[in-house]
Order: sequence, then C-alpha cells, then structure tokens
Amino acid sequence: MKVGIIMGSTSDLEVMSAAFAVLDQFGVPYEKKVISAHRAPALLAEWAGSAVDRGLDVIIAGAGGAAHLPGVTAAYTTLPVIGVPINGKAFGGMDALLSIVQMPSGIPVAAVSVNGAKNAALLALSILSVGSPEIREKLAGFRHAQTEAIINTEI
Ligand code: RP5
Repeated sequence: MKVGIIMGSTSDLEVMSAAFAVLDQFGVPYEKKVISAHRAPALLAEWAGSAVDRGLDVIIAGAGGAAHLPGVTAAYTTLPVIGVPINGKAFGGMDALLSIVQMPSGIPVAAVSVNGAKNAALLALSILSVGSPEIREKLAGFRHAQTEAIINTEI
C-alpha cells in the first residue's frame, strides 16, 4: 500500500510536511513530489496517469490560490484524491478551499480543511484501512491515544 503526495510549489512544503509526519508515524510508504498543474501540466498528466501502475492507492494533493492541482490530478486517475487547500497570500486560503471543494460533477475530490495536511493523511489511512486490518488497528490505536490525551489533560 502506498500514498502519493504532491503539491503545487515548494512554498506548500511546510504545510504538507504534516502529512509526511503522519504516514511516517504509521509506517506507510509514500511518494512525494512538487508538481505544478499550470507550470508543468505534461508532468502532472504523466505522474497521475501512471499512478496506478506505480502502485499508488490514494493521492493527497496540496495547492494554494486557484488550486486546480487536485482536480486535474483526479481527472487523470480513478484513484481517490484528497485535496489540501493551502493558505496562500490572499483570502486566508478561502480561494483554494472553494476551488477544491467546488469540483464540478463527475470528477470528485475530497477536501479537508485549509492547511489540513494532517487530516488528509489520516483520511488516506482510513481509505487504505478498508483493505488492511493492520492499518485499521493502528488507526484505532491512534484515536484511543488521542482520547486518553484529551481526557487526561489538566488545566
Ligand atoms: C500554487 O500557487 C501552489 O500550490 C502554491 O500554493 C501557490 C503559490 O506558489 P508559488 O508562487 O509560491 O510557487 O500553484
């Protein structure tokens, strides 16, 4: 099982690294790459079009601004695509959020919150857990640990 993580720019890296951290914690392998949908469209077509053959099961795509990366990626593959709207220089990330969540009918993209790379990775793990009892158990353990942490928090 393998996750693909792409982002539109190196300026997205800091936000998207939260997804790397979650997948590292769960020991799930992933590919990561900067691919711009508008600056390198041919590369994106090749990368997304060959994702199944490379063994990817789910894709996380982070982008800011007009944020067409997740939607264009989804157009080139039937794998599930999770979009992460990045908070860029304008509109507090609302531009990217609306771009991703308002995908026209026929090519779905799942959307997480603005800068929600951690949840994108957790959602990717949930998708993988359908075919992996091991990942399902690890996810249950993760949730149990965060429940324990919150109920035992002293203020
Ligand atoms: C998008 O434009 C990227 O995903 C990034 O969030 C935004 C700005 O990119 P840079 O100008 O920082 O390269 O394509």
